[in-house]
Amino acid sequence: MSVRIHLNPSPKTPGKGADLSALSPSVAETVRSFHATFKEYSPTPLHSLTGLSKELGLKHVMVKDESRRFGLNAFKVLGGSYAMARYLASRVGLPIEGISRDMLTSPDVRAKAGDITFITTTDGNHGRGLAWTARELGYKCIVFMPKGSEDIRKNNILAEGAQCTVTDLNYDEAVRMSWNLAQEKGYVMVQDTAWDGYEEIPTWIMQGYMTLAAEALEQMKALGTLPTHCFLQAGVGSFAGAVVGCLTAALGEKAPKFITVEPHQANCIYKSAFIGDGNPHNVTGDLQTLMAGLACGEPNTTSWGLLRDYCSAHISCPDYIAANGMRVLAAPVKGDNPVVSGESGAVTTGIVQWLMQHPAATAQRAALGLGPDSSVLLISTEGDTAPEVYRNVVWFGAYPDLDLP
Ligand SMILES: Cc1ncc(COP(=O)(O)O)c(C=O)c1O
Repeated sequence: MSVRIHLNPSPKTPGKGADLSALSPSVAETVRSFHATFKEYSPTPLHSLTGLSKELGLKHVMVKDESRRFGLNAFKVLGGSYAMARYLASRVGLPIEGISRDMLTSPDVRAKAGDITFITTTDGNHGRGLAWTARELGYKCIVFMPKGSEDIRKNNILAEGAQCTVTDLNYDEAVRMSWNLAQEKGYVMVQDTAWDGYEEIPTWIMQGYMTLAAEALEQMKALGTLPTHCFLQAGVGSFAGAVVGCLTAALGEKAPKFITVEPHQANCIYKSAFIGDGNPHNVTGDLQTLMAGLACGEPNTTSWGLLRDYCSAHISCPDYIAANGMRVLAAPVKGDNPVVSGESGAVTTGIVQWLMQHPAATAQRAALGLGPDSSVLLISTEGDTAPEVYRNVVWFGAYPDLDLP
């Protein structure tokens, strides 16, 4: 089934839609200062793909490469680490401003905090980031994964010293199971999605993602450009909501058009926008998609309002769009940098290629205002987090384009 696009005819202007105060520039500064206290921190590259932009008929295509984040091959550690810092700071009575990795590992803070077990459910990247942070800061971590999770993703979590179990549940069911276990055992759940009554930690996670948006803004300004369009991949929508909120709060009227992109099998943001009653709606079932990181059926209830109000469109697409994006980034146009981008990382590149080059996309391209004056920001949120899957797609052509003109 081909690409489906739902347009929002009148996105809200800043101040007229969902509250942006949790994602203000001053919060971004606090978050980034915290991340910068890790020796692994450095801004990830923003590649301006000049060759690709010419090929597609766009002014700029800029791809931020999160495979370089903290040596963990994905952006997710930004959220879990900041949420854990906020939780620990409030537990021991420290202000978050000026907090550092070394403060959190000091004997005084460790003694005051006591023994804590953190728990989460993950498609892979969030759990790895949380397990990494727990090991860095000296805490126990328990991670559950949905059925069908790749061994390599589980092994990467085990390698950080966490307990990790692949369940026979889908993602959203596994989240509920972890939550019940946390309540029973007194564990601290650090989940990257919110629901009614569980909002504080997910908001901290979204704030953690602001570091990458703040870096991108700085890097685009250094290139002398601001984006006109920003395509954001969505699982539960925390990542997309964080970037939408951060860039809208920072740029106001100059914010780009935001467009979410999801797999058909787990298109809960698209479905919620399509139903159009203002509420989030779930997708159920196995959620089986190539894009493991986006295989989530229940929107983050906090983030949903940001996506509903400030996005110009929501896209649902087949798996081969992600595979095309992986191939486009791996085999660049002459002069461009190659980017190793995994399934969930590359879907936005795949959709931009489709929109600009597929004959069936003419109307959608026009509706989104994409053309020679457009500067497009994409975030490759992961590298080859499942190397075998990556090679099957990029080397051996798995998930071929079923929609060739
Ligand atoms: C690589 C990657 N990209 C994007 C996402 C989507 O993030 P969210 O679930 O916040 O929408 C995820 C989520 O795990 C991911 O792993």
